[in-house]
Amino acid sequence: MTPVLEAAGLRRTYPVPGPRPWRRSTREAVVDVDLALEPERSLALVGESGAGKSTLLRLLLALEVPDGGSVRFRGAAVTPRDPGRLRHDVGVVVQDAGSSLDPRATVRTSLREPLECLDGWADVDHDARVDELLAAVGLDPEQADRRPHQFSGGQRQRIALARALIANPSVLVVDEPFSAVDPATRAHLVDLLGTLARRSRLQLLLVTHDLGVADRLCDDVVVLAHGRVAEAGPIADVFARPRSTAAQDLLGAVGRLPEVRA
Ligand SMILES: Nc1ncnc2c1ncn2[C@@H]1O[C@H](COP(=O)(O)OP(=O)(O)OP(=O)(O)O)[C@@H](O)[C@H]1O
Ligand SMILES: [Mg+2]
Repeated sequence: MTPVLEAAGLRRTYPVPGPRPWRRSTREAVVDVDLALEPERSLALVGESGAGKSTLLRLLLALEVPDGGSVRFRGAAVTPRDPGRLRHDVGVVVQDAGSSLDPRATVRTSLREPLECLDGWADVDHDARVDELLAAVGLDPEQADRRPHQFSGGQRQRIALARALIANPSVLVVDEPFSAVDPATRAHLVDLLGTLARRSRLQLLLVTHDLGVADRLCDDVVVLAHGRVAEAGPIADVFARPRSTAAQDLLGAVGRLPEVRA
């Protein structure tokens, strides 16, 4: 079956600013990455800080041009110039999403915006859709006319999640959604994502440092180390018998898997 989202040979190198501009060095953030989000499965992307996870997501989402390789969404090539169905079908919650909300816009304005930009939502009551999504992420729709600073960090992450889901995507890409919140809010957000994914047949592509969260929400895993795929496969296999040093190190750092698997 054709993967929903597929990368082949992706590369991205960044210049590293140094004291001597005539001896410019570079950093390979993503190196020859192949990856597939298979139909009806969710994928976790794990790796230590700086491994290239966020860069890889930007390439997969056609937000940045790769130096090499290609991305396909539902079989069609995607590029920043021509992202095709990807922009409609994929919701995105960026790293530190809470602070990515426009501070001047009310929550209602921020949530309505994707509906106003995308095709197919002209006949829908946008305000009703906003209320529905806020309720779905556990927020009071009555508070939609507040601005982001009037919410807590955890609430802002829920707002970012509601915004990513508002146009009913089939895939949700989430970069470290649980880093800036306390453990109780994190547990609640993990439950919420799991429920939403099951209820609306939403596939997740989740970047996380938390292997317990990956285990709970995803079926497959890609372990990234120094920009390369160190190991990939079903989570149950990789976590039980990690073959790469990178996967062993990540699992070793956790000690053992936290008991979050339901
Ligand atoms: N726009 C950029 N310009 C220059 N270097 C960059 C840029 N974006 C990322 N890098 C570098 O590429 C490497 C990978 O960064 P990236 O943000 O993808 O890592 P990450 O795995 O998401 O880390 P974290 O878990 O800390 O979020 C790092 O060395 C980073 O400094
Ligand atoms: Mg990152």
